[in-house]
Amino acid sequence: MNISILGIPMDLGAGRRGVDMGPSALRNAHLAHTLRDLGHDVTDLGDIEVALPETLDKHETGGLVFFEPILDACRTAAERVMALPGGTFPLTLGGDHSVSMGTVTGNGLRGRPQRTGVIWVDAHTDYNTPESSPSGNIHGMPVAHLTGRGDERLTRLGGLVTGEWGIRPEDVVMIGIRSVDARERELLREAGIKAYTMKDVDQLGITRIHEETQERLNDVERLHVSFDADALDPGVCPGVGTPVPGGLSYREGHLLMELLSESGRVTSMDIVEVNPILDTRNQTAEVMVGMAASLLGQRIL
Ligand code: ARG
Ligand code: MN
Ligand code: MN
Ligand code: MN
Repeated sequence: MNISILGIPMDLGAGRRGVDMGPSALRNAHLAHTLRDLGHDVTDLGDIEVALPETLDKHETGGLVFFEPILDACRTAAERVMALPGGTFPLTLGGDHSVSMGTVTGNGLRGRPQRTGVIWVDAHTDYNTPESSPSGNIHGMPVAHLTGRGDERLTRLGGLVTGEWGIRPEDVVMIGIRSVDARERELLREAGIKAYTMKDVDQLGITRIHEETQERLNDVERLHVSFDADALDPGVCPGVGTPVPGGLSYREGHLLMELLSESGRVTSMDIVEVNPILDTRNQTAEVMVGMAASLLGQRIL
């Protein structure tokens, strides 16, 4: 497979600094090399340019912290992904999770707009709107905006999204959930988004959850996996800005990626929220490179 790596070194959407160094940490953990060893043709496109918070006033526009530069970066990321040749697998590196507004949109619109399913592997549902968000941090809002809820400049990605295309709420499946804000919970219920909490992971197991997910997303033409490092337990991935105890184990993460790989249906992936400042000897980036490898064909035997 042809894999294109694109970094989006942005931490403007997060409450803490440091995830802008995520792409660099993942490269240092031998991302491209690991994927080449699996037989893939890997091109690293480098990073897109993102404004540094130190060069900006911390301004809030209607409950959205750093709204303009985030919209800019997401739009640029979407355009870069859209420009990739058909058949290429985009592997996009955050950055905070707001980058996925750009990457998911770019993947959905690439070539011709297609119905796109999203598997959101995360401790958080990231379904806040500017009104419901307790923090104003945009990394807590990408799923709402991808499914058409919230600030219209973000849902349309500054005019890039025209016409009918969007992610349907029924085409989103979340896995690993254990932190949801009070108003966010109400919005999620209304939207009818399927979310497997950690309780579901404990009770059903990853195999069953994967089967149900495939069935639910049976009709989508493209399938994007957005993997927030904080979905994994903080013992496995300590280098994240919003750690929540009781997460996916190392093996649960790998099993999910292995099963998705076997399905042969995944067409793009993000790795987000890796924060090297908070990490221990780049452990989190190394674990996440392993997750990407499992999704992209690595097998034990
Ligand atoms: N729910 C909280 C908020 O909206 C935390 C979101 C964390 N999101 C993330 N991508 N790490 O502020
Ligand atoms: Mn080697
Ligand atoms: Mn997230
Ligand atoms: Mn998260």
